[in-house]
Amino acid sequence: MPDCSQSDVGILLSVCLLILMKKYHNYNLLNNNTFGMNVCADTFIEYESEEELINIIPQLCGDVLHIGGGSNLLFQSDYNGTVLHSGIKGYEIVDETADDVLVRVGAGVVWDDFVAYAVERGWGGVENLSIVPGEVGASAVQNIGAYGSEAKDVIVLVEAIELTSGIKRCFGNVECDFSYRHSIFKDQLKGKYAVTYVTYRLKKNYELKLDYGNLRSVLEGMEQITIADVRNAIIEIRNSKLPDPKVLGNAGSFFMNPVVDKEKFLEIQKDYPQMPFYEVSGGVKIPAGWLIEQCGWKGKSVGKAGVYEKQALVIVNLGGATPAEIAALCEAVCKDVMDTFGIVIRPEVNFI
Ligand code: EPU
Repeated sequence: MPDCSQSDVGILLSVCLLILMKKYHNYNLLNNNTFGMNVCADTFIEYESEEELINIIPQLCGDVLHIGGGSNLLFQSDYNGTVLHSGIKGYEIVDETADDVLVRVGAGVVWDDFVAYAVERGWGGVENLSIVPGEVGASAVQNIGAYGSEAKDVIVLVEAIELTSGIKRCFGNVECDFSYRHSIFKDQLKGKYAVTYVTYRLKKNYELKLDYGNLRSVLEGMEQITIADVRNAIIEIRNSKLPDPKVLGNAGSFFMNPVVDKEKFLEIQKDYPQMPFYEVSGGVKIPAGWLIEQCGWKGKSVGKAGVYEKQALVIVNLGGATPAEIAALCEAVCKDVMDTFGIVIRPEVNFI
């Protein structure tokens, strides 16, 4: 056994971590973007711990892109830089009371694996977010939301590493500046931090949220509705109207739902009394899917890029679509919505 001093141990550890690290050159990203774009990255690195990431940082040069499950990205061409991916896994219960439990989850855990983990234990708060694609780290970046729940409602703490300095910072819920499909990691700190762990507060005696869309009607007739029943119903609803990326490449909602002021809303409502809407702070939210459908785009395509036939908010890769075709379809849809309704709709998907 060699007699190692503290610093030797440190150096040895760093060397071991670098040897273990998964690093690839000219890496094909087909399996790392749910849109199915056949593009390559100069370098792709997957790390499995915070220490490994901190060791990698000094070697990074040129452009760096940190991805999660690749379910909210549109690569427009090969990526001339380094793509980072978190392989940090695991669950840790950091606190538990009679009412709730705090679970710290690795950023690289598949989001729906975490939902299944919570539902199996009867812990409420994320069941309405069942089968949202992506990973735990992205749940905090995107503030994922569906069927009346948002990640921000359960996130307590986000741990992240600054990608230039390697310094760790913890963000409380308020510091994350969450709002609809938004967090501080999407604007002010965009590209600056890699989320490594997210801690969620889940409830033991949870009041189910059943008031979104047709959720209650899908569960009708059931006597004692459980968290698992809600998960199953959400899975059924989502599968019935959202395309499976393994079959048809897509990135979920391609656009965000726009919020317009009351005056504009009333003006449109005069001509379209059946228009769905939600009152939100700052105005009225109108479903982009509805606007796009009214413009006649549902089921239409540009080359191999199509507007999904069951949900106009989703753009699909009909097989071999090029990034340019998807971008052209996006532009045409936005233009028509603008010309017809005078409303700007913006992509939720990140164009890389
Ligand atoms: N609608 C149409 N035509 C369409 C699509 C929708 O008329 O082609 C109408 C629906 O009939 C309904 C309303 O628009 O009255 C809302 O539709 P839906 O409940 O499907 O929700 P959404 O607003 O289109 C949002 C999220 C989805 C999430 C659902 C359910 C955004 C950008 N999208 O869609 O998120 O699953 O609510 O909560 O907020 C995702 O992020 O990838 C995603 C799918």
